Amino acid sequence: MGDERWREVDEYLVAHLLAEDDALDQALARSEVAGLPRINVAANQGKLLELLATIHGARRILEIGTLGGYSTIWLARSLPRDGTLLSLELEAGNAEVARANIERAGLDSVAHVRVGPAARSMRELIAEGAEPFDFIFIDADKESYPEYLELSVELSRPGTVIVADNVVREGEVINPLSPDLRVQGIRRFLEAASQNDRLDGTAIQTVGVKGYDGFALFVVKA
Ligand code: SAH
Ligand code: DHB
Ligand code: MG
Repeated sequence: MGDERWREVDEYLVAHLLAEDDALDQALARSEVAGLPRINVAANQGKLLELLATIHGARRILEIGTLGGYSTIWLARSLPRDGTLLSLELEAGNAEVARANIERAGLDSVAHVRVGPAARSMRELIAEGAEPFDFIFIDADKESYPEYLELSVELSRPGTVIVADNVVREGEVINPLSPDLRVQGIRRFLEAASQNDRLDGTAIQTVGVKGYDGFALFVVKA
């Protein structure tokens, strides 16, 4: 067992359960050509995000960490025609690739990318009096996850769903002495979540084409 079997099983599941999808394939191909790192969610994880947002009936989605817009496209597919998704991205170059991919997927009327440090964009949204989001996906720099969690709760209403990617990091999450600042960010994020009276949630370990990692899922309480 191990990474090779995990990959093969992911490929089997994707081949059997997920439809061929030109827009998503193109988004990955163009991200690769543009030199973006291959750290997008896996196809079966993207489908899970779409399903979670659909089950929840989300109309307003916030994504933190756009990259080339791959997870953005999955999430935006869950939206009704009058729904909206805002994705926050630090790198203007990534945002350009993502915008082109979103447009090619026919989702440019619902999904938009805002460039800048995500925490700053989130504070701007709060200052602008933005309506609360129904669903928030946290997937940017792991060092800032604690801050993103706090700001996400401020941009939530009772019932908002918050999903965070990469919370297990090959099991390193249990190492309190890890020198990896990303691991320390995740540890502080999980600690903050457990201490937050407004959050009810869990975390799940995953294996697959992206190796051994996990995601956390929270619902914001009243
Ligand atoms: N959600 C994407 C992957 C995101 S990768 C997908 O699954 O398809 C993480 C992204 O977060 C990268 O594009 C990186 O540039 C961005 N990022 C890193 N630090 C950031 C910050 N401070 N604010 C906003 N985005 C940031
Ligand atoms: C990394 C970031 C991600 O969001 C991910 O899903 C996998 C890897 C990274 O920064 O290494
Ligand atoms: Mg991720």
